[in-house]
Amino acid sequence: MAQGSLAGRVALVTGASRGIGAGIAEELARCGSAVIVNFRRDAEAAFEVVGRIESAGGRAAAIQASVAVPADVDRLAREAPAIFGPIDILIANAGIASRGLSVAETDPEELERVVATHALSVHRLAHLLLAQMRAQRRGDIVVISSSELDHMRANGAPYNMAKAALEALALTLAKEEVRNGIHVNIVAPGLVSTDMGSRLVKAKLGVEDIAQLNERQPLGRVCTAHDVATVVRFLCTEDAGYVTGQRIVVDGGAEPWPTG
Ligand SMILES: NC(=O)c1ccc[n+]([C@@H]2O[C@H](COP(=O)([O-])OP(=O)(O)OC[C@H]3O[C@@H](n4cnc5c(N)ncnc54)[C@H](OP(=O)(O)O)[C@@H]3O)[C@@H](O)[C@H]2O)c1
Repeated sequence: MAQGSLAGRVALVTGASRGIGAGIAEELARCGSAVIVNFRRDAEAAFEVVGRIESAGGRAAAIQASVAVPADVDRLAREAPAIFGPIDILIANAGIASRGLSVAETDPEELERVVATHALSVHRLAHLLLAQMRAQRRGDIVVISSSELDHMRANGAPYNMAKAALEALALTLAKEEVRNGIHVNIVAPGLVSTDMGSRLVKAKLGVEDIAQLNERQPLGRVCTAHDVATVVRFLCTEDAGYVTGQRIVVDGGAEPWPTG
């Protein structure tokens, strides 16, 4: 297999209808992987991602399933391998922001929803897919966390707790599965220009257009989905054949942004 190629592999990317997940789906497909594009609500956006991959000569299919709903996760784990064959790359990307409230103000149901979306779903999905991943020449699980976890900011308990649980799962799984040829790694972006990133800077900094923050970044621009996707792709290739149990921060050297 050519260096950097993902030919013959089958990836499932959760939350791939837009943002970082869409970027990862397109990048994995560009390198030869067939890709299952999971989405929750926005079918039109998901089919656009599939269309772009197919137009570029790749293979992709979309599956609706909310990862926050255990029955949907079970169905996703059944339906995904039935399309292009066993899944050997799982990208756990689906995520939602929390509402930015203190613990005193947070409805416990919000906590449950955020933790279920980011973390419990990934345990469930991995549990269901590990047997087929073990049977392949190689397996990869990459979880999309956040550099926010390094700051544990006030008013972020649901998100901080969810990403902490996700990283704990990934690092544990890396040790459990290394002898089965399954690599498990964490990619932790800083601020990324997506719908979520744009909503965040509007709410926290009053910034209407995220591009206004370009010149404040050490590299002169806000991170894009593609910047994250190329790191994820690298981790899944033989170029990263001796890498597992690692956490890569993709924040362009940015300082933590102001709290408040
Ligand atoms: N943007 C940032 O600044 C940033 C920074 C660090 C980490 N991250 C992390 O990166 C990941 C992607 O974020 P993003 O910025 O790309 O977010 P986004 O632009 O809001 O896109 C979120 C994606 O996740 C999907 N999704 C949400 N809930 C889902 C569920 N229950 N089941 C299945 N899919 C679901 C959405 O599907 P629908 O379109 O169908 O709703 C959409 O495709 C998240 O885990 C986030 O925490 C983001």
